[in-house]
Amino acid sequence: MRKVKVFAPGSIGNVGSGFDVFGLAIKAVGDILEVKENNTNELKIIGIEGDNGIPTNPEKNIVTIGVKAMLVALGSKQGYDFLIKKGVLAGSGLGSSGSSATAGVFAVNELLGRPYTREELLSFAAIGEMQASFIPHYDNVAPSMLGGFTVVRSDDPLEILKVDVPGNLYLAMVRPNVMIKTKEAKKMLGTTMSISNAVHQFGNIAGLAIGMQTNDIPLIGRSVADFLAEPVRSQLIPKYSVAKERALKAGAAGFNISGSGPAMFAICDGKAVAENVIEVLKEVYKEDDKANYYITKPDLLGTRVID
Ligand code: HSE
Repeated sequence: MRKVKVFAPGSIGNVGSGFDVFGLAIKAVGDILEVKENNTNELKIIGIEGDNGIPTNPEKNIVTIGVKAMLVALGSKQGYDFLIKKGVLAGSGLGSSGSSATAGVFAVNELLGRPYTREELLSFAAIGEMQASFIPHYDNVAPSMLGGFTVVRSDDPLEILKVDVPGNLYLAMVRPNVMIKTKEAKKMLGTTMSISNAVHQFGNIAGLAIGMQTNDIPLIGRSVADFLAEPVRSQLIPKYSVAKERALKAGAAGFNISGSGPAMFAICDGKAVAENVIEVLKEVYKEDDKANYYITKPDLLGTRVID
């Protein structure tokens, strides 16, 4: 029976201003998935490590939902066993569902001899991802699959752009120990935005993309400011405004919520700045003994076969 082991990086959805549009794959965290052909017509989850809250029922699991959609499209009845090693905690804002969804379709595509390109696989991964968010969005599956910084120019028809990132871009990140479900965090936002906020947002979206392309980290930092989700969702994150204020004072070029939170990211020009920022964030969250801290860089490779 053939088998494969893959790694899918976690990601920062939205990257502040690009709600459901921008995504950045990160090296700090990711899921490992082992997939093996079986003799049945069934998809079986034989184990989940690293997170107790993930459903083992293949009808409800993000990995197998995406894979099933792909097998139906191919007319394949092949069965597979899945061992899921979660390196990205669900509800963390670090692209957990995107990593899982991406890893599943990528691994099975490898075993089938690559009938689909990475770009084509995104639609199946998004079907899995929808289990977590109920509105289809590609800002985690795209960076997780393709690596680097991605832009969802359109989701119907799907058009994803990949933009180079500055070599000196570091992220200082903290995940306080609260869980935020993307599904719930999406419902909080309502359905409209004022024209004046939208105009600010358009400027930041353009600034962020140009900053990435021109290696302008201060511009990237200014442009992560968000008028859509941050004002509402920051209220769900303990000590958000203190963390942001101290991170900026410690040298971060910008600060915002990663995905729907609670993880947060600081844009840093170089490792030394990221180290300063992490020190102040550790001080802010010193009473949260389960908080996680990361100094990381963009993952440029995306999902890949390992071992
Ligand atoms: N873009 C989604 C949201 C989360 O903000 O609801 C993706 O991480």
